[in-house]
Amino acid sequence: MQEIKFYSGENIPLELHKVRIVQKLNLVPIERRLEALNEGGYNTFRLSTMDVFLDMLTDSGTNAMSDNQLAAMMQADDAYAGSQSFVRLQKAVEDVLGKKLLLPVHQGRAAENIIATAYVKKGSLVPMNYHFTTAMAHITQNGGKIAELLYDEAYKINSDHPFKGNMNIEKLEEVIKHQGANNIPFIRMEASTNLIGGQPFSVQNLRDVRAMADKYGIRLVLDASLLGENAYMVLKREEEFKNSNMGEILKIMTGMADLVYFSARKLSSSRGGGMCTDNMTIYKELEALVPLYEGFLTYGGISIREIEAMAVGLYETLDESMICQSPSFIKYLVEALDAKGIPVIKPAGVLGAHVDAMQFCAHIPQTEYPAGALASALFLISGVRGMERGSISNQRDEYGNETYADMELLRLAVPRRVFTLSQIKYVEDRLNWLYDNRLLIGGLRFVYEPPVLRFFMGGLEPTSDWPQKLMAKFKEDFGESL
Ligand code: F0G
Repeated sequence: MQEIKFYSGENIPLELHKVRIVQKLNLVPIERRLEALNEGGYNTFRLSTMDVFLDMLTDSGTNAMSDNQLAAMMQADDAYAGSQSFVRLQKAVEDVLGKKLLLPVHQGRAAENIIATAYVKKGSLVPMNYHFTTAMAHITQNGGKIAELLYDEAYKINSDHPFKGNMNIEKLEEVIKHQGANNIPFIRMEASTNLIGGQPFSVQNLRDVRAMADKYGIRLVLDASLLGENAYMVLKREEEFKNSNMGEILKIMTGMADLVYFSARKLSSSRGGGMCTDNMTIYKELEALVPLYEGFLTYGGISIREIEAMAVGLYETLDESMICQSPSFIKYLVEALDAKGIPVIKPAGVLGAHVDAMQFCAHIPQTEYPAGALASALFLISGVRGMERGSISNQRDEYGNETYADMELLRLAVPRRVFTLSQIKYVEDRLNWLYDNRLLIGGLRFVYEPPVLRFFMGGLEPTSDWPQKLMAKFKEDFGESL
C-alpha cells in the first residue's frame, strides 16, 4: 500500500474508511470519576461504560465491524449441526490461514483450555516467547510450567529493535536439552507478544523455532490472535518481505505451525475463536473436547451470526488499508508521547500504546502496583480507561508469593477503526498533564484478591488520599472543564 504524504510535511495517519454508525460517549465530571474508581476497587475492569469516555481497555471484541461483516450476519444459517455458515468459515480459514481442519471455540482462552487439557500434565514445560495471562493460567491449572524465552532486547523499554517478540533460539535449545523433549508437549509462539507491548516476531525467527521443533520432534503451536498485525509488521520491517502481500505472509507463518489457535475477538473483529491444523492426529486429539466444553463442532459456542462475521473478518485481515489503521494510530501516539519525554515502549507495536509505569511513577514501589495506580490516575483525570499490564496481572507462584512483573505497563488499546485522531490527541494531552503532575500519584493495595486471574475482579484501595489531591490539582488547572 502506498504512503499518503501531507503537503505540510506533517506525519498524520489518514483514516481510510468512513464512519456510518456512531455511538454517543459520556464524559462525566471528575467527581463522578472518583466515585466510580472507589466503587470499582481501583480496577479499570470493574468500571461501568457509563463512566468511561474513551475505552482503551482492550481491542478484544471492540474493533469496529465493517458493513460487509454486518451484512453477512443477516444470512446466518442457524442450525445446531451442519450449518452452511460453518462451511463458509472453514473456507475462509483455509483461504486465509491455509489450514483445512477447523475446530470452533467460543473465544481464544477456550482453545487454550482445550489444548492444555489435551497436552499438558504435571511435569510438562511449555517454552514460549512470552506468556499471555489466560494461556499461562490454563497451563498451570493442568500442572504444567512455562519458560519465557525472549532476547534481552525485548525487556528494553527504549529500543529500535523491529522484532522484540522473537524467541531466543539458543535458550530454547538449552531448555529442551535440560527438560527433555518428552516433557515438552509443545512450543508456543505468540504473534505480536501482547504483554511486552504488542511486539512482533520475524518470519526468520519462526523458521528458526520450527527448525528446533523439527530437530527435537516437538509440536509448534501458534497463538494467532494478533497475527494480522504481526504480518503487517513483517511487511513493514522484514527486508525479505517488503514486496510481499499480507496473504502470502500470513500463510508462510501459519504454514510453519502444527496447530494454530486464535481469539476471533481480535483476529477477525468479531466474536469466537478457533483451532486449525492440517494434522489429522492433532485434530482427533482435540476434537472430542469441543462438544464437551464449547458446543457442537459446527458452532463451538459461537452465535452463527458471529461465525459469518468471523469469515468475512478473516478475509478483511488481508486488506492492508484495514490492518494498518490501528498500528498507524499507535505509532502516532507513541511518537507524540516520546517527543514529550513520556516513557513509552518503543518501537511502537500493535494493539496499543504502552506507557512504562516503572519510570512514569518511579516513586511508587512495585509492591504498590505502579501500573495499576497509573491506570486509575489516568481514568480519574480524563475518563480514559486503560488496562494494567504489570504485577496485578501476574499470578502468585505455587507458594502464594507475589511474582513481580518484568514490566509495569499501562496499556492504552487502540482498537481498529474506532477512535478519531482528535480523541488520540486528547489522550496525549491528558497524559502530558499527568506526567507533569506525576508525583501526586500514589500506590495501591489489594483489599480483595481472587485466587485465579485476580486482575479481572480484584479490588484495591489507594495507600493514601492521593486521588483527592490529584483531583484538586486537576480542578485548579482545568477549572470547570471536564
Ligand atoms: N492470546 C492472546 C495473545 C490474547 O491477546 C488473548 C486475549 C487471548 C489469547 C485470549 O483470547 O480473550 O478471546 O479468550 N487478549 C485480550 C486482551 C483479552 O485484552 O489483550 P480471548
